[in-house]
Amino acid sequence: MTRLAPIALALDAPNLETATKWARSTGPYISTMKIGLETYLRDGDRAIHEVRDASGGRDIFLDLKLHDIPNTVAGAARSIAHLQPSYLTVHASGGSAMINAAVQALPETKVTAVTILTSLDEAELAAIGVKGPALDAACRLAQLAVSAGARAIVCSPQEVAAIRACVPAEITLITPGVRPAGAALGDQARVATPEQALADGADLLVIGRPITAAVDQEKAAQDISNGLVS
Ligand code: C5P
Repeated sequence: MTRLAPIALALDAPNLETATKWARSTGPYISTMKIGLETYLRDGDRAIHEVRDASGGRDIFLDLKLHDIPNTVAGAARSIAHLQPSYLTVHASGGSAMINAAVQALPETKVTAVTILTSLDEAELAAIGVKGPALDAACRLAQLAVSAGARAIVCSPQEVAAIRACVPAEITLITPGVRPAGAALGDQARVATPEQALADGADLLVIGRPITAAVDQEKAAQDISNGLVS
């Protein structure tokens, strides 16, 4: 079997049938399937089971971005434990105790911290009380999350080299905003090619529309993967 590319396909689909179809056609080439709030809130556990089966048992990245008091996050994490996701996202800004509550509840899962949402610009960050450059805050939050037991961090391709330098090598860095050279940007403003993101220290690339909006999703996944694994 060919090596699987370190890609998490963002299954942002209008219905589960479409998400499952994408998982089936891309599963032979990529390592991970990312299921977010839109799909999980609509289709529940069934989405995880059907995507996992269709993809040939690929890793599941459950992108729920939990953020609440530690007791509630622990309960939320326990209530998805039976799904055995490889990754579960939480907001690093929920603090150490909250992150650690998720880690304790899900010892087999890489609790994955989201640092600063890339949708926030400096003015909005200042308005919610985050002073100074966004990159400083992202590094601070990444270190806090790792100290609390997070084993993966989501960051933009522009931040990945700096975050790589401030967290231990075994921490998995995950970057969205990845576009093959020449691909449409969509609403992503700050992008990098897959090769560049990996060279800068990313371990797993979140890619959605460059694959899911292609006429032939299987070919798009195969083409992008071929450039990454040989
Ligand atoms: O289609 P595209 O490749 O832009 O999909 C990227 C995925 O990564 C989407 O599921 C999006 O919600 C997610 N994401 C992002 N930027 C972040 C965090 C997550 O684009 N900062």
